[in-house]
Amino acid sequence: DHAPDLLVVGSGFFGLTIAERMAAELDKKVLIIERRPHLGGNAYSEFDAETGIEVHKYGTHLFHTSNEKVWEYVNRFTDFTNYQHRVFGKYQGQVYSLPMNLALINQFFGKSHTPDEARALIAQLASEFKTEDATNLEEKAISLIGRPLYEAFIKGYTAKQWEKDPKDLSPDIITRLPVRYTFDNRYFNDKYEGLPVDGYTAWLTRMAEHPNIEVRVGVDFFDVAEEFKGKVPIVYTGPVDEYFEYAEGRLSWRTVDLKSEVLDVEDYQGTGVVNANDPEVPFTRELEFKHLHPERADRYTPGKTFVVREYSRFAEEGDEPYYPINTADNREKLLKYRDLAKAEPMVLFGGRLGTYKYLDMHMAIASALSMFENKLRPHFVDGAELK
Ligand code: FDA
Repeated sequence: DHAPDLLVVGSGFFGLTIAERMAAELDKKVLIIERRPHLGGNAYSEFDAETGIEVHKYGTHLFHTSNEKVWEYVNRFTDFTNYQHRVFGKYQGQVYSLPMNLALINQFFGKSHTPDEARALIAQLASEFKTEDATNLEEKAISLIGRPLYEAFIKGYTAKQWEKDPKDLSPDIITRLPVRYTFDNRYFNDKYEGLPVDGYTAWLTRMAEHPNIEVRVGVDFFDVAEEFKGKVPIVYTGPVDEYFEYAEGRLSWRTVDLKSEVLDVEDYQGTGVVNANDPEVPFTRELEFKHLHPERADRYTPGKTFVVREYSRFAEEGDEPYYPINTADNREKLLKYRDLAKAEPMVLFGGRLGTYKYLDMHMAIASALSMFENKLRPHFVDGAELK
């Protein structure tokens, strides 16, 4: 029973990428410990037994990237479908095409504006406030897109997401509110987009399949830390504040409650994601997972569909930490944690939780590839200090 060459804490995309590179490229033995009962982190999914539909257990995960290296790397583990993500939004009994585009503007104002006419209209509506004078999120949004579109498509949604009136939110939360003066309603602009053909869990599992990698699920690092700390190099992808026992206070997170339901209808909403923009509707969006994989139609149970409603709120102790919150207080704490992390011997901090930074999957993978090249390879191959 040999000690591993590297311990990886957390089996999300960041930890798996590190482990896979160490095992395959440097022939090192890696132990991954994961406190959930399964590997894969937040991208994990399961096929629902009743409907045959793949359900993303921690919220919808759409893969997209323009990074050539990442695209080449991920294609070693899975093929991708040609799924293109599109989002719709309900408001006062109508359904609009998002992101804000010419279809939405024309439908909302009941006009058939040309791109130039629409641009002039939005510029005129947006002149109510100057962006640099905005003192809160509401004024900032109005300065970018004007009051009518703000009230319909930003106000209610944002209030639900943050459990706060946008008048009480910092203008820094939004930098831009892109409006497209075309009918293009593709959600992502990236060069590559698609979903893993056999599902996320098959992809994540293949990354860990190397004989040099052992995964232990259901093990919390903090229960076994003394076995490893200071003895084995560690890549830690859990929450950075938790590692240091909240010495600088707790970083705050937003979380999402996902309430799922199997409905006895073939098709509930005709698409994967519909936002709920009305303030009186308590959830922020409805997900219907079968639409992410129309190519699997013949494998689904007829007459049934799997729907999830998302309710956004602040994370309390014990909740899943999903999205970092960009406030002065959190930024200040994070700087202190970064200093502690830098000083921690033999431990590298990475990933979404370890850096308190929202990372899309392709960013988590890119960041892990660069930690491997810039820190781990020099340490394990050339004997450079690990830091
Ligand atoms: P991740 O959170 O996946 O993994 C960390 C792992 O560490 C977890 O499994 C955790 O249990 C484990 N862990 C923590 N502490 C531990 C301890 N003490 N001991 C043992 N294990 C421990 N991205 C994208 O590209 N497109 C999308 O559509 C979405 N959608 C999306 C929705 C929601 C709701 C969220 C929260 C995130 C997304 N993402 C996304 C982002 C995607 O989930 C993200 O890029 C990856 O989860 C990042 O992988 P990490 O490995 O950094 O963290």
